[in-house]
Amino acid sequence: MDAAAQTRKIRQLLTIDRLLGADSVPLGRAPEFTASPAEAPPDEPASVGGSSPHTPPTPNPRPRSFASPQPPSSTLIPSMQDQTPIAASTLSVKEKIAALDALREEVVAFLTEHWPQDGWNNPVFGEGDPDADLMFIGEAPGADEDRQGRPFVGRAGQLLEKQITAMGLTREQVYIANIGKARPPGNRVPTPEEADRMMPFLLKQIEIISPKVIVALGATSAKYLLNNPKLAITRERGAWRDFHGIDLMPTFHPAYLLRQYTKENRARVWDDLQAVMQRLGLKLPKK
Ligand code: URA
Repeated sequence: MDAAAQTRKIRQLLTIDRLLGADSVPLGRAPEFTASPAEAPPDEPASVGGSSPHTPPTPNPRPRSFASPQPPSSTLIPSMQDQTPIAASTLSVKEKIAALDALREEVVAFLTEHWPQDGWNNPVFGEGDPDADLMFIGEAPGADEDRQGRPFVGRAGQLLEKQITAMGLTREQVYIANIGKARPPGNRVPTPEEADRMMPFLLKQIEIISPKVIVALGATSAKYLLNNPKLAITRERGAWRDFHGIDLMPTFHPAYLLRQYTKENRARVWDDLQAVMQRLGLKLPKK
């Protein structure tokens, strides 16, 4: 590579670093993730749910075992295997807000009645623009999210926000949700059964918001959304997939990126996000 090309390359890497928040490169101890080896893809931590110490379990007023599956009454899409296209929503923003509020209530009621109370405190439904073109879907809430009842508010969330900013958007302009709506005990990965039981709610949520693009954050999210237990995020990230007729981009989870904060990984995620920007017609930064 000649000197000019090298300078260009370094400039490009510096721009990516700045856009992805190089001012907060983790220097101390990486966040701890409780591994569940059976679930863990080889290339990503078993759980990316949160970065704070484990919250002590609360008393257990609710049942420990699952009741029989109870999809939300208003669900239109019966199963996670079903890849029936989600019709573009015709709801007004006001109607979307009302529909999401009603769905939130269904989720809370479902969790309160049927979810084992094994350490979570607050349901984390999701938040953002009910009419967003772009939806991020993570794995499940961690300790910070559980405390606040909001998705992606811990260290991984801060990096996600920087990524959103680098895309020229704000957190309020996108919608952020998770596969799991309650923090799994010890930050473990949601089990396939848990994901399956939450999927009707998530599908309904997506149907209401009706985004143009979904970004699956991390192996667990991509695996469950694409219904492929063998999915390897290192292989599958960066390639467009179809999710019920919606463009889906799998990429690394921000918590994984924090743990593996190499310039190659940052560039990979930035490439994925730029592809998303392109698909949404957003202005790309100058090279
Ligand atoms: N990790 C996730 O997958 N979701 C959150 O909300 C926070 C961290």
